[in-house]
Amino acid sequence: MQTVKSLHVLRTALAQLRVENATIALVPTMGALHEGHLTLVRRAKEAADHVVASIFVNPRQFGPNEDLDAYPRQLAADAAMLEAEGVALLWAPDAAAMYPPGFATNVSVAGVSDGLCGAARPGHFDGVATVVLKLFNQVAPDMAFFGEKDFQQLAVIRTMARDCDLIAPHADAIIGVPTVREADGLAMSSRNRYLSPGQRAAAAALPQAMQAAVAAIEGGAAAATALAALEAALIAAGFASVDYAALADAASLAPLEALGPAPARLLVAARIGTTRLIDNLPVGA
Ligand code: PAF
Repeated sequence: MQTVKSLHVLRTALAQLRVENATIALVPTMGALHEGHLTLVRRAKEAADHVVASIFVNPRQFGPNEDLDAYPRQLAADAAMLEAEGVALLWAPDAAAMYPPGFATNVSVAGVSDGLCGAARPGHFDGVATVVLKLFNQVAPDMAFFGEKDFQQLAVIRTMARDCDLIAPHADAIIGVPTVREADGLAMSSRNRYLSPGQRAAAAALPQAMQAAVAAIEGGAAAATALAALEAALIAAGFASVDYAALADAASLAPLEALGPAPARLLVAARIGTTRLIDNLPVGA
């Protein structure tokens, strides 16, 4: 596996991979890799001739009160994991390569970015959309893989790709991969490392309460009733607060009062100690 830090070397390395119409899948990450990321790589490997992974801790998606400097960085360990999975190329630019002096563009996807995590983290999805559009243009992959764990992020990226008529990748080639979970159901996340043993045990209440809410909504309960029970269960389990618990249309993320004919999603963000956990589940699928 070749690790590349400058755009002109990336272009040369990509040209070498693309011989005889070989296909390329991109797996964008911010590093601190876990089994969830490696699952994306494995899915990408099944689908394309070559996998390109990116590691870039994107400053533009961190708010002023979110500690960019504290974000875990472990490039050598991450590179070893990616190499073991058969990744062909690791694109690992620094901030100066990604955002050279004079960089002035902001990509903003209205609507789907606004509620849920977008309300709690103003500007976050602009930062995501901006860097992902750049990554897509830098690598021009045939397909790209993202975890459904960040369901709103996936919706923002798909909307951007559709609205901008992207061709590499096409919106239909942006693949969402189901969330990888620990044995007790907690969604894998680089943030789980911040939980104390007690918080980690209590965090299992999140997927459990969400499954109960999904069952209630699928059984005909009003969303408000099921979501209130979910919030109460999380607080009883030791969560400090619930940022949001919502039933939403799976494509637009518009709030729903009850399950209708279209695919729906239950999305939750809740804090345990100072750690903010997010999760989501399909409803009525
Ligand atoms: O999900 C992430 O790791 C990041 O938000 C992404 C998509 C790599 C953009 O920085």
